Amino acid sequence: MNALFDPFTLRSVTFKNRIWLSPMCQYSAVDGFVGQWHEVHLGSFATGGFGMVMVEATAVVPEGRISVGCPSIEDEEHALAFKPMIDFAHTHGVKMGIQLAHAGRKASTLLPADNHAIATLDRGGWQAVAPSAIAYHGYPEPHELTTLEIKLLVRDFVAAAVRAVEVGFDVIEIHAAHGYLLHQFYSPLANTRTDEYGGDFEGRTRLLVEVAQAIRQEIPEGVPLMVRISATDWVDNGWNLIDSIELSRILKVVGVDLIDVSTGGNVHNAPITASPGFQVPFATAIRVEAEIPTSAVGMITEPEQAQYILESGEADAIFIARAALRNPRWPLMASEKLGVKIDWPFQLDRGRTLR
Ligand SMILES: Cc1cc2nc3c(=O)[nH]c(=O)nc-3n(C[C@H](O)[C@H](O)[C@H](O)COP(=O)(O)O)c2cc1C
Repeated sequence: MNALFDPFTLRSVTFKNRIWLSPMCQYSAVDGFVGQWHEVHLGSFATGGFGMVMVEATAVVPEGRISVGCPSIEDEEHALAFKPMIDFAHTHGVKMGIQLAHAGRKASTLLPADNHAIATLDRGGWQAVAPSAIAYHGYPEPHELTTLEIKLLVRDFVAAAVRAVEVGFDVIEIHAAHGYLLHQFYSPLANTRTDEYGGDFEGRTRLLVEVAQAIRQEIPEGVPLMVRISATDWVDNGWNLIDSIELSRILKVVGVDLIDVSTGGNVHNAPITASPGFQVPFATAIRVEAEIPTSAVGMITEPEQAQYILESGEADAIFIARAALRNPRWPLMASEKLGVKIDWPFQLDRGRTLR
């Protein structure tokens, strides 16, 4: 029986616990560079007791950014900007992951202050790309990638992963969820290609499988590789759980170590009824049917709830997002609530006492 504060090992990385910070866009990068905001923000989770801090969706090429304020790891200079955060987390025994992303047809937006409106060329935006020239709701029509351009993307993902490992990241996660490029490829709703990267299940999943396989081959044996997927499009004719189980089996074979199970993001008006732990059953089904470790995410806010998910074998680890924005020391709080004795950073230790 697993528990929240049990260590967890994937390849040569041991996480001190199973509470992980879910990747969250901060819209605070400048020209793709992370900076002081990220240092303080990510540092707060590192001191807050998370076993792993996963950096937000980070584009493998500049045009893969979701917004003009999203980070990229397009070259060594951009990669080096993460180093102070990685070093700081490591001094607290916290593993650092990076979510490698390409936004595809949902790229090129402005900041929250501009209500995430489309960034036109004159406002720092760019032409978005996608498997097919099918626009996402409210977005401009994307450029349909050529077969050659797709093959170059595999190379871009690999180069980004290698840079990430070189700068010190412990874990690589491929972002293939939430309606971004790799999800656009595997969902029949966004991919109507007729070449090798479209058509049937095999064709539509080809790009993600190639990316995962190529990254696995180029990063060190000991570095865990995770993939975040959307396990369902939440509509009848879209991607579904059966597809996700099949995909997870294939990803396991090419060397993926954990499936980070989320849902949605590809259909703007999909009928999603979110409630506490609503995505957990998808993580459980994939864990059982594809026999691969999974993480659960989505409206997991209470320590007892998270503990129950692990104890009952519904998932292997928990990603916390919004609850961590409210309280970056969520794991420290959880340890007190569950009565589990863990080390706090000495600077915070007096916070345990009430008077
Ligand atoms: C501000 C914000 C930014 C997010 N950015 C990302 C992201 O970069 N990558 C990602 O996979 N999910 C992203 N998400 C989704 C979260 O990682 C998480 O899956 C979702 O919020 C559900 O978990 P929660 O109920 O604990 O918030 C974001 C969520 C929020 C609130």
